[in-house]
Amino acid sequence: MGSLDIPRRRLGRTGPEVSALGLGCMGMSQTYGTPDDAESVATVHRALESGCDFFDTAESYGPFTNEELLGRALAGRRDEAVIATKFGWEYDGAERGPLNSRPEHIRRAVEGSLRRLGTDRIDILYQHRVDLEVPIEDVAGTVGELVAEGKVLHFGLSEAGAETIRRAHATFPVTVLQTEYSLWERHVEDEILPTLRELGIGLVPYSPLGRGFLTGTATRAEDYPETDYRRHDPRFQGEHFRRNTAIVDVVRAVAEEKHLTPAQIALAWILHKGDDHVPIPGTKRRTTLAENLHSATVALTEDELRRLDQATRPGSVAGTRYPESVMHMNGR
Ligand SMILES: NC(=O)c1ccc[n+]([C@@H]2O[C@H](COP(=O)([O-])OP(=O)(O)OC[C@H]3O[C@@H](n4cnc5c(N)ncnc54)[C@H](OP(=O)(O)O)[C@@H]3O)[C@@H](O)[C@H]2O)c1
Repeated sequence: MGSLDIPRRRLGRTGPEVSALGLGCMGMSQTYGTPDDAESVATVHRALESGCDFFDTAESYGPFTNEELLGRALAGRRDEAVIATKFGWEYDGAERGPLNSRPEHIRRAVEGSLRRLGTDRIDILYQHRVDLEVPIEDVAGTVGELVAEGKVLHFGLSEAGAETIRRAHATFPVTVLQTEYSLWERHVEDEILPTLRELGIGLVPYSPLGRGFLTGTATRAEDYPETDYRRHDPRFQGEHFRRNTAIVDVVRAVAEEKHLTPAQIALAWILHKGDDHVPIPGTKRRTTLAENLHSATVALTEDELRRLDQATRPGSVAGTRYPESVMHMNGR
């Protein structure tokens, strides 16, 4: 399969140019369903052949194994790809410990990521979650040093609040913010997005398919195994699932009229929200990847956008986006 002519977008004002849609690699190693490394590697290769060159991973995915998988998949093709990874927690073996963004820990994490990815540089290095024990200026300063050393090319934040973004950016330029953004999760539109635009920081929407919900193929939380994150996502649970199905009904209706799939409409909606958005839908399958990449060529009319916006206006989504026990780590 040749290149799909996927449009290109710049990450923030000063970041690299990448395909308008990236590939989220987390689900290849954890969170959803059973890993299939051979198909995952083939999916990374298919992405490159299709003109999709922006790959998202993290130390915490696995942990460690997702970076190793991506490193294996990109062996010999490193220069064709833009790699984003993240640091943020301590580990005892595979056991995740507390948040840790102390300078010496960031440096250790970066050495590990470079080794597992089989590369001498990380294109985008994100702080995965804000660590309240470490001033963000110290984090930004450390990443700035790593940039000066050539080990990191650009600085990103994930799930940071507006004030933290400003303070970080004042110390060392933030290229992109990665946060959850999709038809059913629009909290960034209020305060975060205007801040990003004022500062020239790009947005990398994660879980742009609502962890699969917006594709119309999701089932109730209770139907997923204990190891699948969706069993624990409040939006998939009980009465919330039933109410949220009304959103998918609208997405599906627009999709059917255009002979497209709900996933393609959900992704096209994000791409229409701003040319500073580069969503990273996650999949571990070549067929799904092709379906998702096609959304970059979909045009939505004003009326279609209005219907989609109306279906997901504030207050129309039931359930928080994370369980209460981890929600406090977001937006601070
Ligand atoms: N910064 C953070 O804290 C954070 C948090 C979450 C995610 N992320 C990043 O964002 C990326 C994307 O988010 P995500 O993977 O959580 O959620 P997502 O992209 O919203 O959804 C992924 C799920 O949807 C399924 N799917 C994808 N395309 C589909 C299609 N066309 N039809 C039917 N099902 C489809 C996938 O199935 P298969 O897996 O079976 O292909 C997977 O179960 C992740 O891979 C990760 O890199 C970052």
